[in-house]
Amino acid sequence: MSVSKVPWVIKYRPKKLSEFVNQGEAVEKIKTWIKGWLAGKPEKKAALFYGPPGSGKTSIVEALCREYGFQLVEMNASDYRREQDIERVAKLASVQRGLFAGRRIILLDEIDGLALAGGADAGAIEAILELIETTKNPVIMTANNPWDLAFRPLRDHSVMIEFKRLSKGDVLEVLRRICVAEKLSCDEKALDFIAEKSEGDLRSAINDLEAVAEGGGKITEEIAKQLLRARDRVLDPFEVVRKIFWSKYVWQAKLNATQTDLDPDTLMEWINENLPRQITDPEDLWRAYEALARADVYRGRIVRSGSWDLLAYAIELMTAGVALSPKNDPKAKFRWVKYQFPDRIRLMSQTKEVRALRDSIAGIIGEHIHASRAKVLKDVLPYIKIIFENNVEEAAKIAISLNLTDPMIKYLSQNKGDEIIARVRELRKAIRAEAKRAGSKREDAQKNNKKSEEVKKQQTKSGLDSFVKKTKL
Ligand SMILES: Nc1ncnc2c1ncn2[C@@H]1O[C@H](COP(=O)(O)OP(=O)(O)O)[C@@H](O)[C@H]1O
Ligand SMILES: [Mg+2]
Repeated sequence: MSVSKVPWVIKYRPKKLSEFVNQGEAVEKIKTWIKGWLAGKPEKKAALFYGPPGSGKTSIVEALCREYGFQLVEMNASDYRREQDIERVAKLASVQRGLFAGRRIILLDEIDGLALAGGADAGAIEAILELIETTKNPVIMTANNPWDLAFRPLRDHSVMIEFKRLSKGDVLEVLRRICVAEKLSCDEKALDFIAEKSEGDLRSAINDLEAVAEGGGKITEEIAKQLLRARDRVLDPFEVVRKIFWSKYVWQAKLNATQTDLDPDTLMEWINENLPRQITDPEDLWRAYEALARADVYRGRIVRSGSWDLLAYAIELMTAGVALSPKNDPKAKFRWVKYQFPDRIRLMSQTKEVRALRDSIAGIIGEHIHASRAKVLKDVLPYIKIIFENNVEEAAKIAISLNLTDPMIKYLSQNKGDEIIARVRELRKAIRAEAKRAGSKREDAQKNNKKSEEVKKQQTKSGLDSFVKKTKL
């Protein structure tokens, strides 16, 4: 496995503005705007690049910096959610140039995240507006959809630059170029299939081509279809971990990692949890953990710097790096072993159980008092809990009358749960004994009843007899 291998989406990013396919209009507008800045009188201080994913918004900023000698100061959405982070960058932006560095371009990439369901992050948008007001350097924002109401002030303060959705022909053009550069032999039909599937998202098209090419050999439509269909299938976590461990090739491990909707962090937890179950040779295990640890280092860097480009390395290390680490006992990874949920996820499902328990108690009480579960949760359960924490006798009676299970009792009382459960047992025993006694009394009574009926019958019979006798019937 080569760690130094650069993913194609990075390797084949256009270096110059002129290399971008079919974004000529955007490029012209960008040039005009940036020339305004260089002349010291920009039309507006910010620009908002908008358009579908994979149309070149982010990479064009990088090319722009390279071509005009700007230093790129980049923030991603998770950074500028916090106002103080925006202020930090604003300070950087408000000075014309660093002592040693040249002019800067401030990039706020993918601001879409700020317009969350139910209203935007007003504080963050305010902070961005302030940044635009004070900046002495060009500010560029990118968004897939800039038309959210919350972005209006940002739109008003920006030159709006549209990126067109790339056509299938545009995508094909880039894919063909990459095939030539990589000396790959590709069926035109295979490329057509990949381009069609990408719906104009060049990033996904390039990623697909790379995945298919890693199989080695000629790229045929057959292989492309087979691999990309497999990639579209979503596997459950157990299945995906197994397929990753069992992979024989780098491309296979990476491809398997795409067949899950787990995010990379969670996938890493799954791999971490189950690694020692699958790989047992100590040296092999050490190598695998080494790869995982390096993946974690990349992950940390991604979180800190927002350089999502590094994600490809992290994923390669945690999948292929792990899968290809067994050397002493290479067969071990094909053994069938039982996997487990990672600890954190196990804990989460436990709290889910707790929630389910709470809800079922509320349901039971609700039935008894004819109230909704929500109402019981809010108005009744807190008092029941107080009773359960303070009055064992009363709690036990309630538990019996509602027929609560032991886990339910423990949920209602952290401290006295065991005491209450013991008392419930005693009371139930007493009740049973009482019922038994009552039962046998009843039996006696019934026996007595029978007797008296018999007596009565006899009496009536004898009465009849005497009557008969008397009347001589
Ligand atoms: N118009 C284009 N011409 C050539 N390559 C492009 C173009 N648009 C995107 N790409 C390629 O696709 C990848 C994704 O582009 P990116 O700039 O990240 O898209 P966006 O930011 O719009 O989602 C880049 O690595 C680049 O190689
Ligand atoms: Mg982007």
